[in-house]
Amino acid sequence: MSDTLFDKLKSLSLYPMHMPGHKRNTDILGNSLPYGIDITEITDFDDLHCASGVIDDIQRRLAAFYGAKKSFLLVNGSTCGIMAAAVALCSFGDKIIAARNCHRSVYKAVELYNLSPDWVTPPFDTAAGIFTSVTAEAIEKAIERTPDAKAVIITSPTYEGVISDTEKIAKVCESHGIPLICDEAHGAHFPLFCTSRAVGDISVTSLHKTLPCLTQVACLNIFSDKVDTERIAETLQMFETSSPSYVLMASADRCMTLLEKGGKELAQRHTKRLEHFYKAAENLEHLYIKNSENCDKSRIVICCENTDISGRELFDRLRRDLDIECEMASMRYVVALTSICDSDEGLLRLENALAAIDKSLLKAQCTPLPDMCAPKVCKTAYEAQKCEKTLISLGDSIGRVCGEYVWAYPPGVPVIAPGEVITAEAVQSITEMRRARLSVISRDEEKILILK
Ligand SMILES: Cc1ncc(COP(=O)(O)O)c(C=O)c1O
Repeated sequence: MSDTLFDKLKSLSLYPMHMPGHKRNTDILGNSLPYGIDITEITDFDDLHCASGVIDDIQRRLAAFYGAKKSFLLVNGSTCGIMAAAVALCSFGDKIIAARNCHRSVYKAVELYNLSPDWVTPPFDTAAGIFTSVTAEAIEKAIERTPDAKAVIITSPTYEGVISDTEKIAKVCESHGIPLICDEAHGAHFPLFCTSRAVGDISVTSLHKTLPCLTQVACLNIFSDKVDTERIAETLQMFETSSPSYVLMASADRCMTLLEKGGKELAQRHTKRLEHFYKAAENLEHLYIKNSENCDKSRIVICCENTDISGRELFDRLRRDLDIECEMASMRYVVALTSICDSDEGLLRLENALAAIDKSLLKAQCTPLPDMCAPKVCKTAYEAQKCEKTLISLGDSIGRVCGEYVWAYPPGVPVIAPGEVITAEAVQSITEMRRARLSVISRDEEKILILK
């Protein structure tokens, strides 16, 4: 019989340049989680859905760490926090303003509540294949177009570590009295690295992605009085299990203790490791590491658009030949996720691996990828999902109204969503992503679902 999931987990051996942020580093975290402490809501152990004891203590420490008025501990990832925040601020059928490169949880909230999004599409770097920052000016324009929007939702940092000027965006939203939700799923570690800044009224962040916490642990932070905390507590009950794992919650407790006692020192050590890595990476001839002002340096984005290999091939070579498992491969880059739980040896291994691969590469002409343009929306996703649909070949679908989401996962940002007109660029993007062996999630390999 082939290996079971558990067997496979027990035999993990590649160096983890991926989530979760604890990196399985038991030297730092110890070995004390989990069977012996797996319980349900027994006497004296508090209740996540109306916390007032030991769980509330964790929430207070999270609020202190993030500078929030109130933090909710989450055990269903940022996904449940984002959906709860959107539903709390909007009524069924409302308008919202949302960055086009939002995670699928935003799209699912939009569909569930029949929201009409005014999509703000950040400029797309067609050479590297990465969405750049959302600007305050773009949000201001969207608010002028849609003054009755009930909320603005953006992602900062993105999966690729791109940070937007959330402080400026928050000011714009505040001046128009519209609450801002910032999907900071990838920025849980920011307070340790002084990368934090105002992020509006609500932020949702995945502790498990970049901090030493078990997978699924996240938190929702409230920063302003404009948000009804009781309503958030209610909507969280719609999206979060009624049997939250005490093992997961205990990992948030352990994480906060570790950060309170020695987080700054661990962050300083990691900053040194990263500085060394970025310096060494300057010697790469063909590959390069994205390293601009508005990037999270702990998210190492290895770009290969000027070489003769794709992101997928680079990912595979790191895995197969050099024992490094990265977070994700895109067409033109690979994301390696680092955290305070990395070792010097881990970063050095990546440095040496990239140097070795770089030597074997040839320079190649970079052709631009199809642009990610603003979608033409015919129906809301909610309405589109209620329509009759049929599968047709992707090639014949241009100009038809889409009946499904098509996205590469990760990062889970759709190329096209239900109710949107299928464009030639969307078809080209999907075709090229499939050709590059990315994991494209849709109903069918060759066909696409359209409205009849
Ligand atoms: C930008 C963004 N937001 C939200 C999420 C959802 O986070 P979680 O996996 O904690 O539910 C993800 C997941 O990858 C993400 O990339």
